[in-house]
Amino acid sequence: MGRPNWIIWLLCVLGCECLPVADVVWPNHGKIQSPDFPQPYGPDLLERWDLRVADGYQIQLTFTHMDIEPTQDCSYDALVLLSDDKKLLGKFCGQEDSPDGNHPGNQPILSPGNKMSLVFQTDDTNSEPHKGFSAHYQAMDIDECALLDPDSEPLCSQICHNTLGSYLCSCHHGFELRPDQHTCMASCVGGVFSELMGHLSSPGFPDASLRKLDCRYLISVEPGFTVTLNFTSTFHIESDEGEEGSSCLYHWLEVTVQDQQPVRLCGDQSPGLMITNSNNVTLDFHTDSEGVSDGWSLHYSTERVSCPSPGSLTHGRVTPAFNQYLYKDYIHIRCDQGYKLMMYGREIDSSVIRCQSNGQWHLPLPECQIIDCGKPEELLNGGIKYLSGSDYQHRSVIQYHCNEPYYNLVGGVKVSFTCTADRKWRDNNDVPVVPVCLPVCGKPTARAGQAGRILGGKLALPDTFPWQVLLNVNGRGGGIMIGDRWVMTAAHNLVHNGIQVDKDQVRGGHIDVNELINRAAASVASLHVHPGYDNPNHINYDNDIALIRLQNRITFNSSIMPICLPPDGATYVDGVMGLVSGFGVSQKDGTSILSNKLMFFSPPVVNQQTCIRSLAGESQRLTDNMICAGMPDGKSDACQGDSGSALAISQGDIYTAAGIVSWGIDCNTRGKYGVYTRVVNYLDWIKKTMNDNDI
Ligand SMILES: *[C@@H]1O[C@H](CO)[C@@H](O)[C@H](O)[C@H]1NC(C)=O
Ligand SMILES: *[C@@H]1O[C@H](CO)[C@@H](O)[C@H](O)[C@H]1NC(C)=O
Ligand SMILES: *[C@@H]1O[C@H](CO)[C@@H](O)[C@H](O)[C@H]1NC(C)=O
Repeated sequence: MGRPNWIIWLLCVLGCECLPVADVVWPNHGKIQSPDFPQPYGPDLLERWDLRVADGYQIQLTFTHMDIEPTQDCSYDALVLLSDDKKLLGKFCGQEDSPDGNHPGNQPILSPGNKMSLVFQTDDTNSEPHKGFSAHYQAMDIDECALLDPDSEPLCSQICHNTLGSYLCSCHHGFELRPDQHTCMASCVGGVFSELMGHLSSPGFPDASLRKLDCRYLISVEPGFTVTLNFTSTFHIESDEGEEGSSCLYHWLEVTVQDQQPVRLCGDQSPGLMITNSNNVTLDFHTDSEGVSDGWSLHYSTERVSCPSPGSLTHGRVTPAFNQYLYKDYIHIRCDQGYKLMMYGREIDSSVIRCQSNGQWHLPLPECQIIDCGKPEELLNGGIKYLSGSDYQHRSVIQYHCNEPYYNLVGGVKVSFTCTADRKWRDNNDVPVVPVCLPVCGKPTARAGQAGRILGGKLALPDTFPWQVLLNVNGRGGGIMIGDRWVMTAAHNLVHNGIQVDKDQVRGGHIDVNELINRAAASVASLHVHPGYDNPNHINYDNDIALIRLQNRITFNSSIMPICLPPDGATYVDGVMGLVSGFGVSQKDGTSILSNKLMFFSPPVVNQQTCIRSLAGESQRLTDNMICAGMPDGKSDACQGDSGSALAISQGDIYTAAGIVSWGIDCNTRGKYGVYTRVVNYLDWIKKTMNDNDI
């Protein structure tokens, strides 16, 4: 018996054959006595007691007294004990120690179930009186678990627990009780294995041979890892050996990987290693109600997904260099010196690329492109020679040069620049500054020669006085080119009656006035008369110096070039020859005419004291800011119109502007000399004016 009560109840309800058990409370003990006990019992009795205790209990009957007519086999009077299923539990008669009969003694009698029937029967005679019997019974818990019947299924398929009046089944670890409360099934559904390695086996492995299983195991690790199954060698899943090899028809282990055909396994060969290339593997183990599968066991491990080798980079490096690059690995891309990183056609600063969980790099490999320095800066009045092709790439070499002989490169004739890794053109000293072409001064391409004693001077040949400038301000005047945007002249050319003119015209580059005045004049940016020039009455020519700043720089050539300023502290020895040019008045056949051709003459420097003496009686005074030149006979003299032109004195092979044609007492007069502004006294003012205004 011993089924859990509710099942009985259920059966009863379904069978409609008994009262609801739940309402009945069975006694758990009681007393039974023969009729009239302890008086002797009568003849021809047939008494019956049906004892019952609660389900899950058995009845323990203990006799306290028995005195029934003793006979062989208890054939006259007897107390018969029957089990629920009418099996004879005992047939008793006699007394304790009586030679005949069958006395139960003090041993209690147990019913196999929770019911027991007692039948007391007597015959018609009694040779002597007998008292009968007295017994009590009590309910005893049955240890259902101990009931071993080798022919029937055990009550519990795995573990049995006896309880008062009943029992409970339970299951080993990894199993769970089926709804029938008796059998166990593998608890193998819904398990998710998310660790990066682990162990799995079929329920009960290696002992169990289980049927009717539908187990599902899911190995699901984080993306970026792939699962590898390693089956142990003990592997057995029932297979059907058909003509076409074994088919896994009834028992199988199915391995499913996303986007792949599931693989069904059976047989007794371990599949060994299975590389799934997936982070998500489902195992379905199925057995049906027949056959035998011992099961399987496996260890799974994971590996990081690998990204394809990034390959090598021309003109660059990929670090670190691994044989294999795995999920979460990073690579750095660097270009060789002189190369830049390019991605999608754009330059990028740095490149770190990550191996993603899908086995792809998160960015493509950039390229290393040679850097270039761009077109080098042009050199004003110079040029560039491409020594290594016409590209501007790294390590290209260019050479700057100036337009000789009118311009000079500071520090050399030619200077090489290289395109360096920082994308700058740099010279051999690593300086990235483009050189400057400075105008060559005082070196005309043609030499004038001497024209000492020729009255009125001599016609100048082309290019012999390239610094000569024609001024048309208030009448004709001269000027001296001293820089590519600076003309030096006499202050009195620009100041009339104490008022500075604001109109001026500057032309240069030819020896013929007619030629010059057909040319466009250079635009003047500003006039700078020496602040110390104060000559309202034309008697004080001290500080007769002025500068004209031109709007645009002049590009020099053989016909227009500057003259050099004298060196600091330059002095002039008496008698040294100078050269004076000008478009001024010249003598022709004894008459003064305004020359339309550039004329020149070469006066010697006159001793300062000699010159002062020559001015005795005149209202004009000679100052230290003046220098005199001329022949005592007056044949080499500057005249009106020459004012502002240069007294050039050569120092070595260059001409310097020693003086500016300033004034004189009559032209070409014996005993009179030409007076020139002594330029060396104004070097500081000139340089300051030029610096302050040269933007
Ligand atoms: C698979 O497991 C066996 C032991 O069962 C072991 O010897 C073998 O090294 C494993 N293979 C791999 C690739 O892990
Ligand atoms: C894993 O695969 C199973 C079926 O193969 C699918 O149902 C589940 O959504 C997958 N899980 C992930 C995280 O991809
Ligand atoms: C020299 O330069 C001047 C002024 O720029 C120009 O007018 C003249 O044509 C040039 N002469 C030569 C020979 O290039």
